[in-house]
Amino acid sequence: MSEKMWAGRFSKEVDSGVNAFNSSVSFDSRMYRQDIKGSIAHASMLGKAGIISAEDRKKIVAELENILADLESGALEIDPTAEDIHMFIEAVLTQRIGETGKRLHTARSRNDQVALDVRLYLRDETEEIKALLKQLIIVLSDTAEQNTDTIMPGYTHLQRAQPITFGHHLMAYAQMFLRDISRLNDAARRMNQCPLGSGALAGTTYLIDRQLTSQLLGFDCPTANSLDGVSDRDFCIELASAISIIMTHLSRFSEEIILWCSWEFKFIELDDAFATGSSIMPQKKNPDIAELVRGKCGRVIGDNMTLLTMMKGLPLAYNKDMQEDKEAIFDAIDNVKLCLSTFIPMLQTMTVYRDNMRNAAAKGFINATDCADYLVKKGMAFRDAYKITGGLVALCIEKKTDLEHLPIEDYLSRSELFDTDVYDAINLDTCVNSRISYGGPSPESVKKQIEDVRGALDE
Ligand code: ARG
Repeated sequence: MSEKMWAGRFSKEVDSGVNAFNSSVSFDSRMYRQDIKGSIAHASMLGKAGIISAEDRKKIVAELENILADLESGALEIDPTAEDIHMFIEAVLTQRIGETGKRLHTARSRNDQVALDVRLYLRDETEEIKALLKQLIIVLSDTAEQNTDTIMPGYTHLQRAQPITFGHHLMAYAQMFLRDISRLNDAARRMNQCPLGSGALAGTTYLIDRQLTSQLLGFDCPTANSLDGVSDRDFCIELASAISIIMTHLSRFSEEIILWCSWEFKFIELDDAFATGSSIMPQKKNPDIAELVRGKCGRVIGDNMTLLTMMKGLPLAYNKDMQEDKEAIFDAIDNVKLCLSTFIPMLQTMTVYRDNMRNAAAKGFINATDCADYLVKKGMAFRDAYKITGGLVALCIEKKTDLEHLPIEDYLSRSELFDTDVYDAINLDTCVNSRISYGGPSPESVKKQIEDVRGALDE
């Protein structure tokens, strides 16, 4: 890059090491579309407000469009020594149309320019993340639909607890990802205010029309305070935080997938195309994708922490520290998109081993609560029923059997309220089918959940 924009004030050229240190073009060049879009809106407003001539406005807009086309086609390459994408595009514009190009930056600062570009960029990316989440929820609902009667153990403390279905388990994740979409919507709504026109920090003396640029760029309104307009990065933090929560959900899900495809569980098997082998152990089939997603969750939480820590001590208004916002939020965005787009087909192609799930549910006394509830329905207080059932479980362990196979005499020895219909009451299918409470695991209840989630997606 030739002479600096600010060369007039300085008597020396900037040190080349400092130039490289200072430059953000290697990572902010990805916002070239947004930068050009913002400049076109700004130039249009300047023209309409009579701050530049109609002729200059036309020339600037036309050339910005050419620059965009040339960047898209590869005819124009981004100079890696440029200070940032904003300086680069302005410099090209000026090279190409001379004097007129120099008028574009009237009533604008890079501070409001960069705040605008990042918002525009994040707004687009938020839509892409939402689309991926929707795809994931569709796959979850479809798989759940095929598994509304696939009985599996539900766990607490990773100990078998009560019977549920695989469909019910998957729909729990659908709820988490639905909340993630709503969090992204919230963040996008607050993000959707236009900082352009805040200037460097103190607005401008030109009679600009901030409503117009805000409208042209599809914002709800202009930001209300010029200092805040240039120094706010809440929208980066909010998005990074929403993404961290998405990653946390994906990470928990990954952990379960890793467990489920182990020989100890064997509830599922990943498709060969979504697993990897070992360089030494010929028998291995590893859930690398799920592990990497779990690993990347830590990195994205780190991005969120980077942003918070970067902002926490900054006086108003703009400080160069804030250039660090981009790498952190871009990393969070890139990684969540990467994780989602790999995770979805992995989930879609996995094989569900229904029998193994059911066999696991048949062990571990997960119908003990149902046995206690049986006594309660016959009139006993729950705490007494709980105690008697605990004793029955201990008896089963001693006799190396389970509640289904414990003779009726043993039941009767503990309470006369028992009858042979206890075997039906503690049957796994009965246990699941009768859990009809709203949001519960019964096939009917899960079908309703699936229907509601699909409805929410259509909204
Ligand atoms: N590259 C800078 C950034 O990302 C653009 C804003 C520069 N403004 C300034 N006053 N130096 O934050």
